[in-house]
Amino acid sequence: MPHADASLVPDSIKTKSEFWTHVYDQLEILVGVQRHWVSNLSNAASLIYSSLQAFPSNFGDGERSVNWCGESSVFHCRSRQPGQQTLAKEDRPAPFFVMTCFYLISSLFPQPRFTDDASMDPKSQTHASTNMLLGPFSGRPACQWIEVSPRPRGVCGDAFVKRSTVLVPDVLTYPGHIACDGDTKSEIVCPLILRKGGEDIVLGVLDLDCLAIGGFDADDQVGLERIAALIIRSCDW
Ligand code: SME
Repeated sequence: MPHADASLVPDSIKTKSEFWTHVYDQLEILVGVQRHWVSNLSNAASLIYSSLQAFPSNFGDGERSVNWCGESSVFHCRSRQPGQQTLAKEDRPAPFFVMTCFYLISSLFPQPRFTDDASMDPKSQTHASTNMLLGPFSGRPACQWIEVSPRPRGVCGDAFVKRSTVLVPDVLTYPGHIACDGDTKSEIVCPLILRKGGEDIVLGVLDLDCLAIGGFDADDQVGLERIAALIIRSCDW
């Protein structure tokens, strides 16, 4: 099967639980061939994002359909500059999700190999010890680092220090939310936790942003936490 077909969603899938189980099964195959986190997280971000985009907007029923970020009304919420040309609604890609991304502790990232003095830069040293950096992602550009110490910032920083998933139905009501994209309305952030020698080490977070209010619920949390655990055990850290 071509790798891209992993993000196709069969019509037989009717519930969020079935959807996340399907994504999990596809991801398990994709990450089963090697253990480098850059490659595995890249495919994970793409798979989650593309699968969500592939899901029909009329998924589920009634309220559930609305809660799955699939409302076509999001087209009308997007800001437009005066005089800016816009595509007709039917010509635009379905923008249900703006982001599926990983933020990871900066010590996981490779140090420069060909720039002699980069590792001596005090600013870079500070970031290397206390922050998460943007990792593999799918979607529009995002902020590139998020502080976790001494003061955690945003939903991502909170999920990191609490070591538990943070569900945000309406980002405007969340104190300290970092608005990487002004169109984001709701968000879910799941920590990536490695169990090693009886200790829990938080390696980063998985962050999904949605263009509808109340885009995520407990079913998404269960599905994403299972995927986060798969990602952790499929890579060498
Ligand atoms: N909103 C996040 C920042 C990351 S972006 O959404 C990609 C936060 O508040 O931590």
